[in-house]
Amino acid sequence: MVRIDRVETDEELREVAELAEKIWHEFFPVILSEEQIDYMVEKFQSYNAMKEQVSHQNYCYFSVSDNDGLCGYIAVKPEKDSRFFLSKLYLTKERRGKDIASEMMSRVFSEAEKVGKKTVYLTVNKHNSHAVCVYEKKGFKIIDSVVTDIGNGFVMDDYIMEYRL
Ligand SMILES: CC(C)(COP(=O)(O)OP(=O)(O)OC[C@H]1O[C@@H](n2cnc3c(N)ncnc32)[C@H](O)[C@@H]1OP(=O)(O)O)[C@@H](O)C(=O)NCCC(=O)NCCS
Repeated sequence: MVRIDRVETDEELREVAELAEKIWHEFFPVILSEEQIDYMVEKFQSYNAMKEQVSHQNYCYFSVSDNDGLCGYIAVKPEKDSRFFLSKLYLTKERRGKDIASEMMSRVFSEAEKVGKKTVYLTVNKHNSHAVCVYEKKGFKIIDSVVTDIGNGFVMDDYIMEYRL
């Protein structure tokens, strides 16, 4: 059984930050340098960064658990316009390919609908071909690409994908 729960407490947020660090260092070395992963985890997925996102930037985190415990997380942010930003969708390696991602995606779509949004959008690294395939299978379309300077000489080279609710 999979549970998807809104992260409410600082303790829960710390657990998600720990999981994020583990997943990012397991998954991203095929795409990004260790230096860039360290930098991005600190900037976007450390407890302090996530706390700031939740407290001041309208982000909401969800934890994903199965019978063996915490196995993934989602972050979303309603924009001021009609869009809903899917910022993070991550599962541990052992839980991939087990249909949990589809449940996570359904939850994202229902959260977006709940607040009356018309589209869900995301950015995904152009070389993250598995995630791009998963998003396409779920109905997202590539609508643009963007290179974002994230400081320290690092950039994010992403597609922007969109799903119409
Ligand atoms: C992205 C992620 C959450 C997806 O979860 P997953 O468990 O790998 O996805 P699944 O295997 O359950 O696949 C989800 C759907 O995509 C389909 N799919 C998977 N691989 C596919 C491929 N290569 N081509 C077409 N469809 C594919 C599956 O059939 C499934 O569709 P269905 O529900 O209609 O049957 C997971 O791979 C992950 O955490 N990756 C590492 C972190 C990451 O890249 N996150 C996204 C950053 S933007």
